[in-house]
Amino acid sequence: APEHVSFHVIQTASFANQSWAQCQGSGWLDDLQTHGWERESNTITFLHTWAKGNFSNEEFLYLNRLFRVYSIRLVQDIQAHASQYPTELRPEAWLSSRPSLGSGRLLLACHVSGFYPKPVWVTWMRNEQEQLGTEYGDILPNADGTWYLQVTLDVASEEAAGLSCRVRHSSLGGQDIILYWGHHFSMNWTALVVVMVTLVILIVLVLWFKKHWSYQDIL
Ligand SMILES: *[C@@H]1O[C@H](CO)[C@@H](O)[C@H](O)[C@H]1NC(C)=O
Ligand SMILES: *[C@@H]1O[C@H](CO)[C@@H](O)[C@H](O)[C@H]1NC(C)=O
Repeated sequence: APEHVSFHVIQTASFANQSWAQCQGSGWLDDLQTHGWERESNTITFLHTWAKGNFSNEEFLYLNRLFRVYSIRLVQDIQAHASQYPTELRPEAWLSSRPSLGSGRLLLACHVSGFYPKPVWVTWMRNEQEQLGTEYGDILPNADGTWYLQVTLDVASEEAAGLSCRVRHSSLGGQDIILYWGHHFSMNWTALVVVMVTLVILIVLVLWFKKHWSYQDIL
């Protein structure tokens, strides 16, 4: 055997509902499984002839009993607290865009993330009218067990205003999330125009004053 070998015991408890649970265990030498354990049959199985090592039968009976008592208590505790675990998580949604293939076209994306359970309804709409070109990505897992979905729509740039992305999910209790395309963007455009005009006026003023002062200097 190599000098450093780790031995891991993995226990898996699965819960189908409030009253049904299953427990399994396994033993691993690095990435090689050596032992199995089932609570139902209440036995430790040896996957290799040498896996018993120099443990006696009594020692294995003791370990078996230990796992059993431990798993029963664990399942009881989890079932007792199960109602406190979240069964629904609300999605958050945001919009983005990028130029599409055709000239003058935009690919609008509606991102929906952090929801649980998996079933979700997302679509692009204009005045309560579902948009036929809506494309659905796969529902992808986030690292925290929640889900992510991206829904896109390819539109002519001038037709983007007035579109909205609508998200329906069991966690929202009938209050759909609706995000309108262009609302905050048009405000940003207004702000940009105001800033530009102000800048131009400032530059003109500065240039005028400079010219004025240089005349006075000469005089
Ligand atoms: C609990 O889940 C098990 C396994 O899926 C099923 O056989 C059983 O009928 C369920 N019991 C209840 C009360 O839903
Ligand atoms: C098994 O072998 C180890 C190492 O040789 C020893 O320390 C241990 O006491 C043995 N256990 C039994 C139950 O014989």
